[in-house]
This record gives sequence, structure tokens and C-alpha cells, in this order.
Amino acid sequence: MKVVYMSLTGQTRKFVNKLGMDLLELTPTNPFIPINEPYIIITPTYDKEVTEILNDFIETEQNRTHLQGVAGGGNLNFGQLFVFTAKDLAEEYQVPMIHEFEFQGNEEDVKKIRKAVDDLGFK
Ligand SMILES: Cc1cc2nc3c(=O)[nH]c(=O)nc-3n(C[C@H](O)[C@H](O)[C@H](O)COP(=O)(O)O)c2cc1C
Repeated sequence: MKVVYMSLTGQTRKFVNKLGMDLLELTPTNPFIPINEPYIIITPTYDKEVTEILNDFIETEQNRTHLQGVAGGGNLNFGQLFVFTAKDLAEEYQVPMIHEFEFQGNEEDVKKIRKAVDDLGFK
């Protein structure tokens, strides 16, 4: 299972680097990268115009068919808007919302993502 992510200020990048999984970072310059293996998206939470590159990626070639789930990082101070980017993606593309965490996450968050990936049944 690959982890596809974006990161503006480095929190999500720090988190995904603790997972020990294959990573692909999306940048605004070229999110149109075809992928032919199962992946999850791990995303921070920002306004839609910032995170639109995730939609661009998912809608590239056959990418949508390989998307297995979404996890989100955010800041609980945003209240109702906590991790809305990940929640919206999970709903839009009808895949499980696998975990929510703050900033660069902690050991517990790492364990939960690993377990969720195991439960999805992919290597
Ligand atoms: C302009 C701005 C808007 C944000 N909006 C939200 C939000 O609506 N909900 C939320 O949970 N976190 C929000 N955050 C927090 C970030 O998603 C969070 O800090 C995240 O860990 C940043 O990840 P990154 O460093 O990988 O970009 C916002 C942060 C900034 C700077």
C-alpha cells in the first residue's frame, strides 16, 4: 500500500515519514501522476483551492479505482472544521475515513494507521 500525501508546512510530511510505508508527495506543479497500485491519501486540512491537487491526482487516468481510504491531519482548534478535507474526500470518492490526527501525529496515530492499512487487506 502506498501513501499519497501533500504537505504545506511539513507536519504531514513528518507524520508519513514515521509510517515506514512507500510514499508519494504531491505538489502543485504536477499532481497528474498515474498510479497503478492501491494507495491511501493522507492530507492536512486547508481551503479547497489549496487541496484541489488531491482531486486532480485522484481523477488522473485510473487513479480513482486504486484509492482505498483517506486519513486527515488538522488542528482541533478549528472545531467543526477539524480534518474536513479528508472527510470530504472520503465522502466524495466513497472510501473509508481511516483516521484523524493533529499536526504531525503521535505513536498512537502511527499504530492506528498501520492497523487500518492491515485491516484493508493490502500489503
Ligand atoms: C490557513 C490554514 C487553515 C487551516 N484550516 C484548518 C481547518 O479548517 N481544519 C483543521 O482541522 N485544520 C486546519 N489547519 C491546520 C492544518 O491542517 C494543520 O496544521 C496540518 O497539520 C498542517 O499540515 P502540513 O504542515 O503538512 O501542511 C489550517 C492551517 C492553516 C495554516
